[in-house]
Amino acid sequence: MQRFLDLADFNRDQVADLVALARRLQEHPEPQALAGKILGLLFMNPSLRTLSSFQAGMMRLGGSSFVVTPGQGTWQVETRTGAVMNAGAAEHVREAIPVLASYCDALGIRSFAEGKDLASDIAETQFQLMASLCDKPFVNMESAMNHPCQSLADWKTMDDLGVPRQGRFVLSWVYHPRALPLAVPAATVHMAAQRGMEVVVLRPEGYSLPEPVMAKARAAAAASGGTVTETSDRAAALAGAHVLYAKEWGSPLAYGDAEAETKLRDPLKDWCVRDDWFARARSDCHFMHCLPVRRNVAVADEVLDGPRSRVIQEAANRMVVQMAVLYRLLKG
Ligand code: CP
Repeated sequence: MQRFLDLADFNRDQVADLVALARRLQEHPEPQALAGKILGLLFMNPSLRTLSSFQAGMMRLGGSSFVVTPGQGTWQVETRTGAVMNAGAAEHVREAIPVLASYCDALGIRSFAEGKDLASDIAETQFQLMASLCDKPFVNMESAMNHPCQSLADWKTMDDLGVPRQGRFVLSWVYHPRALPLAVPAATVHMAAQRGMEVVVLRPEGYSLPEPVMAKARAAAAASGGTVTETSDRAAALAGAHVLYAKEWGSPLAYGDAEAETKLRDPLKDWCVRDDWFARARSDCHFMHCLPVRRNVAVADEVLDGPRSRVIQEAANRMVVQMAVLYRLLKG
């Protein structure tokens, strides 16, 4: 394996193999597996879990890592092709990434969507450029439309919990004061479809995921025996659900237009997950969210602190699945 960019680059057996490796490393640690190896981590955007879990995972395998967060002790970095760099950024990714890659054995990059041009973000224009500049094993730590490390952790979490491969998986939009990127919902709908699940995207009017995202998920479902549908009917969506996965995202209809987005989302503040959402779900329905989450805005305390919540388990699985990814990238 040379690149970990998208779970869609792997078939279901290959994903299962990564999950099995993660479990093996969890149960039988290999503290010298990556001795002498160095992981570079470039964060163009903030993080708690991704930053700490990659560093901790690399250390647990005997390797080491360095972190660069442009503008915080290092030069601000320009990403736009053809930019006239007469403002804050002193360095361009065209130099920064090859330089960083030359110092390490593998490089991870987090670079969120620009949030201005939906077509460009769906095409991963910026991230593809960054990936092309790295000649070392490379990890997507969240791009405009993808978060494969989160999806791999979520897949393992459902396996750990015994959620059936064909189980009903509801990905629900939840409220946030502003538009958040499409990366996690896009990755999640695909992951659950690829796992073979009965996937329902629950969202208010105006918040359908972009058609290319849904089409990719439907293709994954077709290959694995799953289904993908969408609805705004909360009760119907959650009837018999094995998993409710909550996520905040911006409307594709108001992409890059903060004023239009505010108008759309202001009446939707009741899209905050509460215990009564689970009335028609299975009694053992699990609640998932990738974190960070705004308590009592997106999800109520009663759910996050209640018996259904698996959010800490998901975050803990981030480290072990990433250890499996690093192991495959650096050890084969
Ligand atoms: N879920 C996730 O990627 O968390 P961070 O943004 O804190 O890394």
